Amino acid sequence: MNQEKIEKNVGLLIVMTLVAVLWGGLVEIVPLFFQTSTTKPVDGLKPYDAVQLAGREVYIREGCYNCHSQMIRPLRAETERYGHYSVAGEFVYDHPFQWGSKRTGPDLHRVGGRYSDEWHRAHLNNPRSVVPESNMPSYFWLEQAKAADTVGKQIDDKMRVLALLGAPYTQAEIDGAKAALGDKTEADVLIAYLQGLGTTLSNFK
Ligand code: HEC
Repeated sequence: MNQEKIEKNVGLLIVMTLVAVLWGGLVEIVPLFFQTSTTKPVDGLKPYDAVQLAGREVYIREGCYNCHSQMIRPLRAETERYGHYSVAGEFVYDHPFQWGSKRTGPDLHRVGGRYSDEWHRAHLNNPRSVVPESNMPSYFWLEQAKAADTVGKQIDDKMRVLALLGAPYTQAEIDGAKAALGDKTEADVLIAYLQGLGTTLSNFK
């Protein structure tokens, strides 16, 4: 079969293109399922505790991912600004991951520990109070709702599902999940989530 024949026959061209794309896709994707660097957690990685997990629910509910990515690319400009590039082993307990792609605001993957809890509280309440030129919306209502009544309602069930997917929760952690939320507000749990982001990767080689 020569090239000209394929190029002049649209049906055949479509079939051949599909075969080429599918084969290329398989070659790129299939090995990822077997490479330990993408399926094994990095040293010291722990699944989110009940409080952080509830915070993650707030993050998702409020759509923070619409403006923030959690994926530092291995480029000089990114690593100088944000820290070590993100590696797959940091996300093995994230279901679904919050990589995102839109960066109206900065990447948040290594924001853990960068600011104090008080800074985050002020920033969430009114971003302009700490970053005058900010155009991030205020999330003042997060201070008003108790996490246990909203995002935390089924927190133990969520942990059970994550355990099914491989997160190493102990029975005691699951049983104690509701109590761990106590009377924390949605802002408290969101800040706990943010403060834990990207903090595990210390001895990555
Ligand atoms: C409409 C876009 C938008 C949305 C939605 C948004 N942000 Fe932001 N965010 C920004 C911008 C722009 C900045 C940079 C200015 C600033 O620090 O306020 C920022 C900054 C931040 C920072 C400081 C990052 C750093 O490294 O200095 C944090 C933390 C943050 N946002 C958290 C959140 C959380 C949590 C949510 C959801 C509750 C959220 N943002 C929703 C636009 C957004």
